[in-house]
Amino acid sequence: MPSPQAVPDILSYAQTSEEQFLRQIFVRDQMAEWSRQPLIMAKADGVYYWDVNGKRYLDGLSGIYVVAVGHNNRRVIEAVRRQLDLLHFSPVMHGTNPPAIQLANLLADLAPGDLSTVKFQCGGSEVTEAAIKLARQYHKLTGAPGKYKIISRYLSWHGSTMASLSASGLKSRKTVNEPLAPGFLHVFPPTCYRCPFGKSYPDCGITCATLINDVIEMEDPATVAAILVEPIGHTGGIIDPPDEYLPILRDICDRHHILLIFDEIITGIGRTGQLFAAETFGVTPDVLCVGKGLGGGYAPLSAMICRRPIAEAFWGPVAENPGFVEGHTNEGNPISCAAGLAVLQEILERDLCGNARVQGDRLRAGFERLAKKHPIIGDVRGRGLFQGIEFVEDRTSKKSFPSKLAIGVRIGRRALDNGLLCRFDPHWIAFGPPLISSAEQIDAMVDILDRSIEEVIAAL
Ligand SMILES: Cc1ncc(COP(=O)(O)O)c(C=O)c1O
Repeated sequence: MPSPQAVPDILSYAQTSEEQFLRQIFVRDQMAEWSRQPLIMAKADGVYYWDVNGKRYLDGLSGIYVVAVGHNNRRVIEAVRRQLDLLHFSPVMHGTNPPAIQLANLLADLAPGDLSTVKFQCGGSEVTEAAIKLARQYHKLTGAPGKYKIISRYLSWHGSTMASLSASGLKSRKTVNEPLAPGFLHVFPPTCYRCPFGKSYPDCGITCATLINDVIEMEDPATVAAILVEPIGHTGGIIDPPDEYLPILRDICDRHHILLIFDEIITGIGRTGQLFAAETFGVTPDVLCVGKGLGGGYAPLSAMICRRPIAEAFWGPVAENPGFVEGHTNEGNPISCAAGLAVLQEILERDLCGNARVQGDRLRAGFERLAKKHPIIGDVRGRGLFQGIEFVEDRTSKKSFPSKLAIGVRIGRRALDNGLLCRFDPHWIAFGPPLISSAEQIDAMVDILDRSIEEVIAAL
């Protein structure tokens, strides 16, 4: 009989911010920089976090666009608890479980058009990866095996697994991992504030969209499987397309029998003021990926939802059709799906999409007010509770600050010091507060940002 082993005493004191303990965990890209002033959260409630030192932060970012229904949401916690008592895991090789079936049916009911068949995974990267595989396998099953190329956009982020990373267009995260997978092409995104074609909306003819048709013609439409886009790009600094952009992409895809995939890992689940950004823009993709807000951070959960005719290609005679060849051990986990069901119930019953629209307008008004006061605000972009600000040295010429100055990072860090969590980058910052945020909380977030900008400008 093996003798029991004592758990090392380290558990009682290894939760500190001392570097000796932080060296045991990879948490983010630049560990040395992070460990100088590590942010370690200890608890959270509503739209607030408290760090291990007891300092309170307004969560202007829903963690990282995840905590849609706020922290410490009792309905979701109780749903997870009940599910834990009943069934916490079921082997995916042998089927699925009741919460997964219920959540798939609820999503099918809520998603626009005939988006109706769902594949669950744990994270965003896994479902964008699945969508890429689905597109390729779909074309193989329907007599177009030569269609394999995926067109996506520069500055995009679709995830860190190899195919989702290959589709991503963010050089800082790609170069270190190259060579990436073959079969991925990139086009320029609709960065209207800095049009890559030197044009101005609305006289531009939406070249950024129409040119994709030329790319497809040049590549040979018989080789292109899918176009993959975030309806509103995040990592390029909140790239909000003109209204015509996504309808043009829909039209191009229909013309060439190419699947249109929306990566709604951030924009989905109410963030833009509708449950899906597909509704905000009035365009139904062939495949829609959601993540982050779906599990609300209560459990890892993401979903790929595809249109009925696509799903039907995977229901064929057993001898000829292998089904959708894609799977992970923890997909459709019952606890995650129970969390997802409770999150959606909260959003629907409390009309949190409506609140995202109202508070989104308030946030925009707040940012516009700051833009009148601070000439370093060059542009304000985004929709609903997903909006950002680009900083410039000169508003007239749109000249950026030197990258080394990292103005957005300075402002974001200052905001953290002042008790506000937001997303920051050298040239921009973004807010994505919980959908439950009140008018007072949105105002408080804008006020802290205002103060933080003032302090950083004064110190320049
Ligand atoms: C638009 C988008 N797609 C995909 C992903 C990848 O999701 P995950 O980090 O959950 O794998 C992210 C993550 O931030 C994202 O923002």
